[in-house]
Amino acid sequence: MKILIKNIKQLVQVEESPQLKIVGKEMKNLSCIDDAWLALENDKIVGFGKMEDWEGISDWTNLTIIDATDKLVLPCWCDSHTHIVYAGSREGEFVDRINGLTYEEIFQRGGGILNSAKKLKEATEEELVESALLRLNEIMLQGTGAVEIKSGYGLSVESELKMLRVIKKLKTLSPLTIKATFLGAHAVPLEYKERKGDYIKLLINEIMPVIAEEQLADYCDVFCEQNYFTKEETIEILTAGKKHGMTPKVHAEQLSNFGGTLAGVAVGAISVDHLEFVGEKEIEALLNSETMPTVLPGAAFFLSLPFPPARKMIDAGLPVAVASDCNPGSSPSGNMNLIISLCCIQYKMTPEEAINAATINSAYAMELSKTHGSIAIGKKANVFITKEIPNYSFIPYSFGSNLIETVIINGKVIN
Ligand code: NIG
Ligand code: FE
Repeated sequence: MKILIKNIKQLVQVEESPQLKIVGKEMKNLSCIDDAWLALENDKIVGFGKMEDWEGISDWTNLTIIDATDKLVLPCWCDSHTHIVYAGSREGEFVDRINGLTYEEIFQRGGGILNSAKKLKEATEEELVESALLRLNEIMLQGTGAVEIKSGYGLSVESELKMLRVIKKLKTLSPLTIKATFLGAHAVPLEYKERKGDYIKLLINEIMPVIAEEQLADYCDVFCEQNYFTKEETIEILTAGKKHGMTPKVHAEQLSNFGGTLAGVAVGAISVDHLEFVGEKEIEALLNSETMPTVLPGAAFFLSLPFPPARKMIDAGLPVAVASDCNPGSSPSGNMNLIISLCCIQYKMTPEEAINAATINSAYAMELSKTHGSIAIGKKANVFITKEIPNYSFIPYSFGSNLIETVIINGKVIN
């Protein structure tokens, strides 16, 4: 199976010598080829260049030709932080917040994450697979090619493992590249409220060995926040996770400056995510690390949180990645096109910085940047073709529009 896309107005995010991440000032550069061609064979990118240099093709069998005159081609978005497996929805809490309650107050009355945990307990594996597949198909048509999915609405041995088995099933059923994260430390379940230590023991001693045995998760994550898990508990859980083969990630500094970033750097987290309350100390620590700072503007927008200092982090020389945080409570959208608009409009990131953040840097946050996140020879043939648009800045500019015409995943046109 071969695909040749020709007459591409602009081939965006091209890498001649691939990098694992794009850092600081470099994020302002986005390498493009005008009037380009792109060749895909099976599930890989096998060639690209300028139309004027195209030397034709020796073997025309099994070749699909797509004319992309006046259209752009980009690598698919990489979404390194989602909770896309869940049961039910939480629009009731959305209305409660409009009427004045805070996210925290809703959690304190047993809502929020605990509300989703109640609903998830009732749902069967089959129901969860079915509803998640619908959402995965939706984000795929919006240009996402790789996605990380967390557990964390189980909060018991049985339900956490159920979620992780659902994610494992999704890896086989969806053409998307999927990474799985164990987020048992998302909240303390009510029955453990007075004995959090026992809940942490349950995560470490009862759930983690099964995860390792069945190879259910690539990453381990903790919500480090007041009323959730402390910095010390975060380090304890992530260190145990590492012993069970899971690379650390952290929900850090979302609602307050609480130590999640420093905990993440201390244990060598691949990413620390949210970062609304990041300060100088955290920026300094991140500068001396390989940890990817990841912003989640969907959640900040939906919960009306202050903006994370994305501009400051980039200007200080840090890389920044962006993800959707798609979940029923704080970001019920997985649309990465809208997410990069929010980066530009609210965080004052340039379109080049936002596209780097949503492709190669978010691929890094899933340890996928050798195979995803840019147009480079040998990388996965996950690309999308836009409608007729003037240039790539038009994508974040046209917030809310669907500008994607064709999505190709693993070298196959899926729409
Ligand atoms: O990333 N901050 C914690 N966890 C999720 C929200 C989960 C929920 O409200 O269901 C987040 O925003
Ligand atoms: Fe999250």
